[in-house]
Amino acid sequence: MDAPERIIELRQLIDEHNVLYYVHDSPEISDARYDDLMRELESLEGEHPSLVTQDSPTQRVGSAPQSELSSVDHRLPMLSLANAKDEDELRAFDERVRKALGSDAPLEYVAEPKLDGLAVELVYEQGRLVLGSTRGDGVTGEDITANLRTLRAIPLVLTGQDVPSLLEVRGEVFMHKDDFAAMNRARLEAGETPFANPRNSAAGSLRQLDTTITASRPLRIFCYGLGSVDGPGKNKLHSQIGLLEALPQWGLPVNANYRRCLGMDEVVAMYRETERARDTFPYDIDGLVVKINSFALQQQLGERSRSPRWAIAGKFKAEQVTTVIEDIEASVGRTGAVTPVAHLRPVEVGGVIVSRATLHNQDEIDRKDIRVGDTVWVQRAGDVIPEVVRVVTSKRPPSAKPYRLPDKCPACGHKVYRPEDEAVARCVNAACPAQVQGRVEHFVSKGAMDIDGLGRRIVEELLATGRLKTAADIYSLTYDDLATLEIERTVRSKEEGEVKKQVPLGDKVATKLLAAIDASRQTTFARLVYGLGIRNVGEHTAKVLSRALDGNMGRLLSATREQLQAIDEVGPIVADAIVRFGADEANIKLIAELLAAGVVWKREAADAGAQALAGLTFVFTGSLETMTRAEAQSMVERLGARAASSVSKKTAYLVAGPGAGSKRAKAESLGVKVISEAEFRDLVENWK
Ligand code: IVH
Repeated sequence: MDAPERIIELRQLIDEHNVLYYVHDSPEISDARYDDLMRELESLEGEHPSLVTQDSPTQRVGSAPQSELSSVDHRLPMLSLANAKDEDELRAFDERVRKALGSDAPLEYVAEPKLDGLAVELVYEQGRLVLGSTRGDGVTGEDITANLRTLRAIPLVLTGQDVPSLLEVRGEVFMHKDDFAAMNRARLEAGETPFANPRNSAAGSLRQLDTTITASRPLRIFCYGLGSVDGPGKNKLHSQIGLLEALPQWGLPVNANYRRCLGMDEVVAMYRETERARDTFPYDIDGLVVKINSFALQQQLGERSRSPRWAIAGKFKAEQVTTVIEDIEASVGRTGAVTPVAHLRPVEVGGVIVSRATLHNQDEIDRKDIRVGDTVWVQRAGDVIPEVVRVVTSKRPPSAKPYRLPDKCPACGHKVYRPEDEAVARCVNAACPAQVQGRVEHFVSKGAMDIDGLGRRIVEELLATGRLKTAADIYSLTYDDLATLEIERTVRSKEEGEVKKQVPLGDKVATKLLAAIDASRQTTFARLVYGLGIRNVGEHTAKVLSRALDGNMGRLLSATREQLQAIDEVGPIVADAIVRFGADEANIKLIAELLAAGVVWKREAADAGAQALAGLTFVFTGSLETMTRAEAQSMVERLGARAASSVSKKTAYLVAGPGAGSKRAKAESLGVKVISEAEFRDLVENWK
């Protein structure tokens, strides 16, 4: 093949791989292979400069930096959206629209996740990208063609059938959360200031005068709207769904997570689902955009000055709000880690009231310069502990002083020790009451011995009164120990109103608790190992160990580093932690006492049907409705299967709930079976 032919072939290949990656979310080659193709094209074009065209993928990064961004008028104004802050306002929107259309019947809507990025317009003439602009004030935006050309997700030339002679398409430029985090890590390492959030960095990246900077940022785009359109293909565009189906065929990425909804009830159901699942999306979303599907009806409804009457944005509850740090407390966990915890003036974040946030460690406090009295942005994501994002320095009281963690353990007064290469300071006194408390709480927790009802306050009291010194003492607690144990309770009485009183647990609670303690004696090796609280040994690793060591405690405690590392999924850090644990007299004594107290477990292999799903790999995506992720994962593991986090050819089943995104598309493209939560339940329960 001669150079001109190979050049054309390479361009086609590269464009195709871009579309596979960004439009279909199913790359077929590695990044390294992609880079090879690019390099080969660059070198051939270098040898034959006359063959270089504007559309070549090598020409995405323009050479000369611009001196300023010029302004462009949009042929049709780029409107904004009216907001609905809750379900009631969504329903009110539906009422308004039905009234305007004189319709009693449920209307056909399209609901799409609302991406939190930057709105842009792309203009294609004869299938070629000729202009890209920001929304600006809606009428006039800035020309960012050179910047947008650097996005591999944006085709320079449209492909497929019936490409319109003029196509103005609108969309959102955004970043994936993990790409954003990786970029920020690299910035920190290079001594640059990290970006505050993906939205800001997407916006900043697009308005660069030097497009090599834009090219280095992990920007993506999803298209969701239309400006002017003319020529072939126009007849495909009668509805929003028609648009969302046509765009990918021309090589333009759309968000696959849209849904056709008949009537507002279906829209509201999706609104709820999407808000619940928002953390499972790989990018930030802040609402659900609801549009009338039919373009004819859209036209009939028309628009107000800034927003269409045929669409609305159902907003989610803010996940970042401001509040005040009232105090900072140093709290000691079961591993002795001293963690600074901020006491906040209570605020609602993402629908829950938050009054505490972790400040992680001294370095984080220093980096963000967090002080008592500061007004701060607080953020919550899913079940994660709320954290302080940054300080509003303009609101800092003049008296606020930098905070330093104490150098003595706040629980036992022992010296706090911080290894040079670690961010965490630890109390190294194994008998520290705060650590013992943490260890016992961990021992009784759900994933470990699962002693229901033995909560923090009861453990605290049992330790304080000396009835408990180690986790093993739980098994020698008597009925009297528990029934007479006094716990602080808020009691309401006619005479005194609400008062705090020391109240004994009493007969009912004591009986129940004793039964729960007794039941926990029959356990599994994995639960016990996890409950022992060995550093870096989580629930999953405990199961791995159980299988590999056939539930043999002696083998675990006496294993060498090499033997442990020979186990699949056990690395040097875990191996080290286990060896250190086994070398500690106190741990051996604890285990001996537990065994003497009657703690027993069945050998894993003896479980009937345990290996029914052996060798299969499951992946979960989206939100589950009748169980937690952890429950689902332990269900598959009980049957000898594996739960993995990403889809590959080896995946047996993808269990997809609402909010399933790229994993679903990937599974489908690999031919991996996609099943619902209900089907998953059937499968697992039938094997029992
Ligand atoms: S449609 C006239 N669809 O939200 C319709 N907008 O508040 C205008 N956005 O400026 C936009 N995801 O930046 C639409 N699926 C989506 C969207 C979306 C995010 C942004 C867009 C727009 C803003 C309006």
